[in-house]
Order: sequence, then C-alpha cells, then structure tokens
Amino acid sequence: MQKQYSQAPLPFMGQKRMFAKEFRQILKQFSEATVFVDLFGGSGLLSHITKCEKPNATVVYNDYDNYRKRLENIPKTNALLTDLRAITVMCPHGKIIPEDVKETLLNRIAREEQTGFVDYITLSTSLLFSMKYVLTFESLCKETFYSHVKMTDYNADGYLAGLVIESSDYKDIFQKYKDIPDVVFLIDPPYLYTEAKMYNMSWNLADYLDVLTILHGISYVYFTSNKSSILELCEWIERNNRTGNPFVGANKRVFNAHMNFNSTYLDIMLYKKPNVYKLDA
Ligand SMILES: C[S@@+](CC[C@H](N)C(=O)[O-])C[C@H]1O[C@@H](n2cnc3c(N)ncnc32)[C@H](O)[C@@H]1O
Repeated sequence: MQKQYSQAPLPFMGQKRMFAKEFRQILKQFSEATVFVDLFGGSGLLSHITKCEKPNATVVYNDYDNYRKRLENIPKTNALLTDLRAITVMCPHGKIIPEDVKETLLNRIAREEQTGFVDYITLSTSLLFSMKYVLTFESLCKETFYSHVKMTDYNADGYLAGLVIESSDYKDIFQKYKDIPDVVFLIDPPYLYTEAKMYNMSWNLADYLDVLTILHGISYVYFTSNKSSILELCEWIERNNRTGNPFVGANKRVFNAHMNFNSTYLDIMLYKKPNVYKLDA
C-alpha cells in the first residue's frame, strides 16, 4: 500500500496542498486509462495525489525545478539539521538567534557547501522568519536567524513511486503528449511576479498568457488565483473581443521610478496621433 502524502515532503512554496481534497474529488471523473501530465510539476504533489488515486493511470511529473535532487538529498539535509539543532539548543524557540550562534551555524553550513549540495529552501524554514526563503549561502548570511530548527527528520519514502518523470519546458512536454488519447493536463503555472522569484526564473505576463493558448480543445485541470486577475482578463476579452491592441503604432517613453532604496519600477508614457507618422522604430 503506497504511503499517501497530503503535502510535499520538503517545503515548496505554491504547492497545492490546500486543494488536495478537492482535487481528489475531481480526479474521480477520469478513468484509469487516462494519461495525466503535470506540466508545472513543482513539488510533484499533484502528480503524487493523482498516482495514489489512479494507481493504474500513467502520471507524468514535469520536474522543471529538479525537486528530485532535494528529495534525494534528504538524508544529508536531515544530518545537517541535526547539527544545527544541537548548535541552537540553548536558544529560546522562535526568538532571534544571537550573532555568535549565527556564526557557528554559518560555519557548519559553509562546511556542508564543500560537499556540493545544500538545500537552502529547506534550511530557510528552519532558520528564517516565516515564509522567508533564500537560495544561496550569500543571501542566507544577510538574514536574521530565528530559532525554530525542525525537530523531526524529513522523509519522502515512496513519494515519487510510479511516476514518469520529465524535466523540460512545459511547451516541449505539451508537444510530446498532446496527441495521446485520453490525455489530461494538470496546469499550475507560476503566479505572476511574486512567487516566480522563488523558483529562480523569470515569468512575466506574456508567459502567463502563453499558457492559455494551449487550453483550447484539451482536457485540463487549471489552477490560478485572483492575484493574477487572469479570469477577469479572459472575461473582459470575451466581452470586448474586437478591441485588439489599442497601443499598436503608439510611441513609448520610459522613466525609472524609485519606491525606496532597493525597489524600482518603470513609469511608461504612450502617445499616438492617428494618421501621424510613428516617430520611433
Ligand atoms: C505554482 S508552481 C507548481 C506547484 C505544483 N503544482 C505543486 O503542487 O507543487 C509552478 C512551477 O512551474 C515551474 N516552471 C516555471 N517555468 C516553467 C516552464 N517553462 N516549464 C515548466 N515548469 C515551469 C516553476 O519553477 C514552479 O515549480
């Protein structure tokens, strides 16, 4: 009997654990002959749940982030956390870790770096303020440490059992599987801007909209949030489907605006006079 996880074995921001129950219900309508393709696999949670619910179905997990590597290194991560726990044993739980203890922790983590792999996302949940994540040793050094090293070991036994694993851009995976009979795509793209930073990649509005182009005529389960306003945009396009792009032929000027010392954005001015020759190429 396969162990069922209702959340990813290692921390992963954006995992669909809140949807686990509802998603299981949705899966009931598909037969065991279905081929499920989890295009934006992330932590693999949707793939795992699907395989548990439909053991005879083919389930493809597109592990674009190499989450597998983090899973494979769980024994190392557990050993490191055991040492960090010992170093912080005298620090009150949830409180800021004093600088001298922080330095001892960093020395231990620096030694781990020599071995070629440190799971900084998992370490972040044990050492940083809630929901704060870093991906490198350099960024970790800059953070304030809090004492809440996980007390129990991580375990991912059987989590990826039976899954077909891919690791490519979702467009390539889509091309590979789209003509297979009974295919259903699980589509959970990165949220705009915010979460994308966590995955070490850039993901802008055009990328987000590109995903919509594959939805026509396929079976899918699609995930989004009101942060992206994507449903509102699609409904608007449906109501105004002859608008086209009102900025075609407009000229553009861009200004750098500063919100504070480390945050900037672009202010944009577009101008257009119909029947007047466009100034910029
Ligand atoms: C919202 S998360 C998916 C979360 C996943 N459903 C789960 O439960 O863990 C989106 C994922 O898509 C990945 N991703 C980003 N660009 C991608 C691309 N071009 N092709 C495939 N996956 C991509 C991100 O790195 C991230 O892991």
